[in-house]
Amino acid sequence: MEVERDQNSSLRSETIPIVDLSDLDEGFVSRAVVKASQEWGIFHVVNHGISTDLIRRLKEVGTQFFDLPETEKKAVAKPDNSEDYEGYTRNLQHTEGRVWADNIFHRIWPPSCINFNYWPKNPPQFREVTEEYTKETKELSERLLRVLSEGLGLPYDALKEGLGGEKTEYVMRINNFPPNAQPDANLGLPEHTDVITMALIVTNEVPGLQIFKDDHWFDVQYIPNAITVTIGDQILRLSNGKYKNVMHRVTVDKKKQRMSWPIFVDANPDVVLGPLPELISGDNPSMFKPIICKDFKYRRLLRLPLD
Ligand code: SIN
Ligand code: FE2
Repeated sequence: MEVERDQNSSLRSETIPIVDLSDLDEGFVSRAVVKASQEWGIFHVVNHGISTDLIRRLKEVGTQFFDLPETEKKAVAKPDNSEDYEGYTRNLQHTEGRVWADNIFHRIWPPSCINFNYWPKNPPQFREVTEEYTKETKELSERLLRVLSEGLGLPYDALKEGLGGEKTEYVMRINNFPPNAQPDANLGLPEHTDVITMALIVTNEVPGLQIFKDDHWFDVQYIPNAITVTIGDQILRLSNGKYKNVMHRVTVDKKKQRMSWPIFVDANPDVVLGPLPELISGDNPSMFKPIICKDFKYRRLLRLPLD
């Protein structure tokens, strides 16, 4: 078991790294975030500054929404003919390799992107709690992006600007994985990397997230009030491969309902996603062909070749 520091450690790396963001040694915290993003593409943050009570209320309103009768959830359903992802979808399928989860997606930032038609009206506190959580997670993700930019030897705002600055989008997704006792149906989400920048995830107490590293699947432990950060394809490309996009999947419990609340940081659809120019030199050729973000996502969705 590899342990990076003594008892006061802000990084324990025997499994998925845990970074204590309240550690007064900022350089140590930054190195831990950068190392975890290079080696794992996933880490937990604790003492991240988002209150336990806000996380509790976030989970409460999401759980209340999914507990509503199907007809009420349909009030915010993703339209059948929609080419966008926003809205509620019931997606329980037994077929191998398919999704076993209900979910709702809606954009939460910037205000010009928000369509409140896809935000549940019930429970009534949903909007207020989600707006509060948006503000906090935006700040947290911007802090992480600053650290990751400096970890590339670039100015602190390089990644944020590369993603579209204040036009970077934030999306809320709530996943509901009902229990499934069928022996051949233990996956809620099949393995994938995220097409976005990064996800900040909280879950209920039922574990299920697994990540793939060095030819092994690892269980991601549930740590109450921690936020799990995963790196997606967009940072992989902007960093010219220095930061890893983590391959992950979600298993379903046979008896218990699992829920998760990822917030996705997502580049503006019109930005060109390619390695930040300062990272490219004769010794460091570009690993990725620049592509407009919306085309990138379209090609990833249809599994078309990219580079
Ligand atoms: C995902 O975004 O792939 C799911 C995360 C989770 O349910 O833990
Ligand atoms: Fe994912």
